[in-house]
Amino acid sequence: MRHLNYINGQWKEPSTKEYKENLSPHNSESLGEFPSSAPADVHDAAAAAKRAFPAWKKLSIQQRAAYLQRAAAFLKENIEEIGRDLIKEEGKAFSEGMGEANRAVSILEYFAAEARQPLGDVIPSASEKTFLYTTRTPLGPVGLITPWNFPIAIPVWKMAPALIYGNTVVIKPADLTPKSVYYVMKAFDEAGLPAGVLNCVFGRGSVIGNELVKHPDIKAISFTGSNQVGRQIQKQAVEHGKKVQMEMGGKNPLVVLNDADLDRAVEITVGGAFKSTGQKCTATSRVIVQEGIYESFRDLLVKRTKELTIGNPLHEGTYIGPAVSKAQLDGVLEMIEAGKSEATLLCGGGIPEEEELKNGFYVKPTIFENVPRDARIAREEIFGPVLSLFKVKDYEEAVEMANETEFGLSAAICTNNLTLARRFVEDAEVGLVHVNSETSGAEPQMPFGGVKNSSSGSREQGKAAIEFYTEVKTVYMDPVV
Ligand code: UN1
Repeated sequence: MRHLNYINGQWKEPSTKEYKENLSPHNSESLGEFPSSAPADVHDAAAAAKRAFPAWKKLSIQQRAAYLQRAAAFLKENIEEIGRDLIKEEGKAFSEGMGEANRAVSILEYFAAEARQPLGDVIPSASEKTFLYTTRTPLGPVGLITPWNFPIAIPVWKMAPALIYGNTVVIKPADLTPKSVYYVMKAFDEAGLPAGVLNCVFGRGSVIGNELVKHPDIKAISFTGSNQVGRQIQKQAVEHGKKVQMEMGGKNPLVVLNDADLDRAVEITVGGAFKSTGQKCTATSRVIVQEGIYESFRDLLVKRTKELTIGNPLHEGTYIGPAVSKAQLDGVLEMIEAGKSEATLLCGGGIPEEEELKNGFYVKPTIFENVPRDARIAREEIFGPVLSLFKVKDYEEAVEMANETEFGLSAAICTNNLTLARRFVEDAEVGLVHVNSETSGAEPQMPFGGVKNSSSGSREQGKAAIEFYTEVKTVYMDPVV
């Protein structure tokens, strides 16, 4: 089936008349054709978003919320089909794919409910007559550039606050996973969203991404993706005077102290490192273990990892689906080879032998130990199911190592020691801290984002989302007499 761009409330052919097949990473099954758009399509979409802005901005926030609620209802009614297609196009395991589709619904519902929350403050004035308050105004048309690893949740977590606070949107979804965003467009179309408020241009970032970032009518850019692309976008957006929000890589540490519950710590490690085939910016990639528990933790972790089922992500027993693409798989295999030359391989270390997995981009969950602190696998984001173990003497050494990275997205600690858990919350140089839970995960009502090279701009989601998608307006109001 051929899918089209969504511009000005219409399904539109791309100006190129060219399409690309969307293939499942499990078996190359086709999930339909999607536009390979050109800059002209971005210009059309930006013009539509600009035209739609004044009327959209004028609606009450509760009127706008009604569209989000209707879109959420459409997604909910079709959740089974949407979840399955998401799983087919991205490759994440069944429960995670369905969980993500449901998360999109819950994000829309959350932001629809935010419409009832205050937008500003009343502040006392030095003068007895003056009424001082703050309110919020939308930015205008905003550009969203979203990744393939959360093909529906991340687009929705950017779109929902953008729309509810009165902005119009042009989104460029990842070209590896267009179908999930196609469903979101359909949901808003069914919801009767006014033409031009939300526009979607499918295609390659290298062809149309820059066009969106440079476009004079696009007032802000929110991006989630790799550091390499993110840095370029950030530079360009800043040059063009735009507000910009970046969510990029991670090299997230999990600290396991001697007093941790062993079984629980192993489950937390496996979940954080290998769910979604390690393709999360919040994935655990370094486990820093105190020496008293190191051997028993390592042995149980390796045993448990060897038991994980790799295979068709649509099967409910599968824990690890394929990498999203051949290029992604090759990058992970390259890092595994680097790891073999710099550390000791404990398990995994390449592609699985099973014949039925040969048509997909599968890779075995892989664990290394004796990893030098300056090894590539200790420093670079891998974005695959690859984990490095480190042995440390005490809490102080663990924290020092946890922070020894250019990234600062998420960190976790497994311990029963409340004092050290609280110290870790203080000491970890990250935006997200987990105590006795895995490094991944994001609830819609909580702010999400990192420090150091992981993020820049204000936080996404929760009450924090308003910071990026609006500007504060400060009002001084005096009576005439
Ligand atoms: C999660 O951990 O559930 O791209 C969300 C990513 C992050 C989102 C993680 N921006 O992996």
